[in-house]
Amino acid sequence: MSNETSERRAGGGDHSAAIAAAVPQRVLASGAKMPAIGFGTFGSDHVPPDAVAGAVRSAFDAGYRHFDCASVYGNEREVGAVLREIITTGAARRDELWVTSKLWNDKHAPADVAASCEQSLRDLQLDALDLYLVHWPFPNFHPPGCDVTSRGADARPYIHEEFMRTWRAMERLQREGKTRHIGVSNVTVPKLKLILRDAEIAPAVNEMELHPHFQQPELFEFVRSHGIVPVGYCPLGSPGRPERDRTPEDTDPLRDPVMLRIAAEHNAHPAEIALKWAVQRGQTPIPFSSNPRNIAANIRAVISNPLTDAEMLAIAGIDRRCRLIKGQVFLWRGADDWRLLWDEVGTTF
Ligand SMILES: NC(=O)c1ccc[n+]([C@@H]2O[C@H](COP(=O)([O-])OP(=O)(O)OC[C@H]3O[C@@H](n4cnc5c(N)ncnc54)[C@H](OP(=O)(O)O)[C@@H]3O)[C@@H](O)[C@H]2O)c1
Repeated sequence: MSNETSERRAGGGDHSAAIAAAVPQRVLASGAKMPAIGFGTFGSDHVPPDAVAGAVRSAFDAGYRHFDCASVYGNEREVGAVLREIITTGAARRDELWVTSKLWNDKHAPADVAASCEQSLRDLQLDALDLYLVHWPFPNFHPPGCDVTSRGADARPYIHEEFMRTWRAMERLQREGKTRHIGVSNVTVPKLKLILRDAEIAPAVNEMELHPHFQQPELFEFVRSHGIVPVGYCPLGSPGRPERDRTPEDTDPLRDPVMLRIAAEHNAHPAEIALKWAVQRGQTPIPFSSNPRNIAANIRAVISNPLTDAEMLAIAGIDRRCRLIKGQVFLWRGADDWRLLWDEVGTTF
């Protein structure tokens, strides 16, 4: 077997490595570098774990080196088998991959944090994560796939002292080397101000919904001005999201006339334009796809044919402030306005 063939069998090969090398890197406050596009792994309830794992393999072969995982996605074991194969066959070294996982809402009790991280490490077959996030700042339990109107018996609003107890356990994980960085997700400016005031280790990243119809300029600028890297979820407006996450007011950024015009000018799909915009703006999009053609097109988009300043400005002008992932199911008993979760109708703390 020639070297070239064995390299191809190992997976990815020269093509994958060349694309990976061309992807811009974000520099975190620690000095660590994180690829500026990641691959999402939430199957949105309709892509089964094996298919998500297959997509992760396609993504690696297409040049992705950053993978956004979470225990609640129910597929870390399958994704972990793919990561193991990539590492053991020499397709990539562990230090060439960036793997994120997340602590789910029913594991906020300090005693559960380490156990939950250990479980993710076992499932992902890793000694340490690159980034471990608190998935949502609200403690609650609800059965997978339950209706958005259901309220968990133990669901509570954000209680800062309680969150900080969870955060202290996250800080311990970083000190113990179980994760190289810790971060938050789905927090707002008022919550972040308190977290930054009291944290011994500041969050390295905030993972937040970001797409052309939901640009969150205030939060985006706040995190960047505090040395926190914004990671953007649902960067394409999550066209495949579960039914429970859809409301009649939702808009579709990929059908916006401005996106369609720019896509036509670039002879590209609007999804590719959304990703170019995201990376050029300074966030790190984490698109998911189960389609190898889309997977490859999405990463190629961010390393070729950039948007002009005029195109960036035109997209800045189409923000509809349209939040798609509202989080209704995380509301507590007696609360029925999801804007409470986002401190849009007064804070609860
Ligand atoms: N922290 C959090 O609370 C949180 C919340 C939500 C999501 N996330 C993370 O963010 C990731 C991304 O979000 P998401 O998966 O909901 O939404 P998304 O990445 O915005 O959209 C994924 C959808 O877009 C389609 N798509 C992908 N590339 C395309 C292309 N080039 N052309 C046309 N369609 C394309 C995919 O369909 P095909 O499969 O047919 O390509 C899939 O249905 C998740 O997987 C997860 O890792 C985090």
